[in-house]
Amino acid sequence: MTDLLILLDYLSDGQFHSGEDLAMELGVSRTAIWKKIQKLNRALPVKIISVHSKGYKIENPVAVLNKNAIMDSLSAEFHSQLNQLEVLLECSSTNQYLLEYLEKNQLKNCVVLAETQTQGRGRRGRHWVSPFASNIYMSLSWQMDISIAEMAGLSLVVAISVAKALQKFEVNDVMLKWPNDVYVAGRKLAGVLLELRGESNSPCSAIIGIGVNVNMPKDATNKIDQPWVDMQQLLNRQVNRNEVAAMILNELIPRLQQFNNKGFSGFTGEWEQMDLLAGKAITIEGHMQPGEGIARGVDKQGALLVEYKGEIQALYSGEVSIRPKNLSRHD
Ligand code: BTN
Repeated sequence: MTDLLILLDYLSDGQFHSGEDLAMELGVSRTAIWKKIQKLNRALPVKIISVHSKGYKIENPVAVLNKNAIMDSLSAEFHSQLNQLEVLLECSSTNQYLLEYLEKNQLKNCVVLAETQTQGRGRRGRHWVSPFASNIYMSLSWQMDISIAEMAGLSLVVAISVAKALQKFEVNDVMLKWPNDVYVAGRKLAGVLLELRGESNSPCSAIIGIGVNVNMPKDATNKIDQPWVDMQQLLNRQVNRNEVAAMILNELIPRLQQFNNKGFSGFTGEWEQMDLLAGKAITIEGHMQPGEGIARGVDKQGALLVEYKGEIQALYSGEVSIRPKNLSRHD
């Protein structure tokens, strides 16, 4: 964790901390602490006040991500395979960060989380709204033994893992919209952005980006251009993001291994239980008129099966829209 994050972590209890104590904890001078506090005040939506003889205090306490708390909750299986886990205060996009990191270092199997993203990326070139210290913005670079050509089902496997983790927090009625959107009652709760690197017929690296709406601040909501929901609304309480991040990783790793060894076929059952599109009238962008196709589940590769003009077609990529009134099972 960077010094700024560690500093925020100390201040997150909302109490006064003397410059001297903070300087000792971070192993820097009191002047350096003062400069870092100015930087935090300038760069982030936080206000840290300083009171003579008392020290520094944050006016609007935030719970920041904590690397040790995440590491402590990771399964032994994950620990044995993970090379590095980093928590950043800010980056353009955690996916981009890992893509650049992979180019420079050969280090595989890394996780990065950020408190905010200045250019968070969604699927199909969309922007992913990433307000500070509110949600999960996490990417994982993972070395696979299989080629890009065999990766079609991976994004579904990631979505299943995220959904399973959310269910462990007692988020009910989680549904998956092919290929990897996570919805509750027609509103988006989480999204996955997968970027692959490697030659078409040799082992590749997967950059798996996961965004989960956890405690979305009200002032960010006007920037989101689709129906959304966060864990806070669904569970009626603030949610600890360290626990959410660790839970997702713990659900994901064994599934990544299974996918790597045996492909998607073993996941069709889990997918069917949460398949939001099954039996719905859908449209595939650029392919058909509104509501012309019917979604008929997925095949053993994770391709979407669509009944269209009396025939079943397998779709490996594409943007699917459902008739709005069909979006949830609760309508
Ligand atoms: C979607 O459009 O549904 C995909 C959203 C993926 C967002 C996550 S947040 C962490 C990672 N970094 C990014 O820039 N995007 C992904």
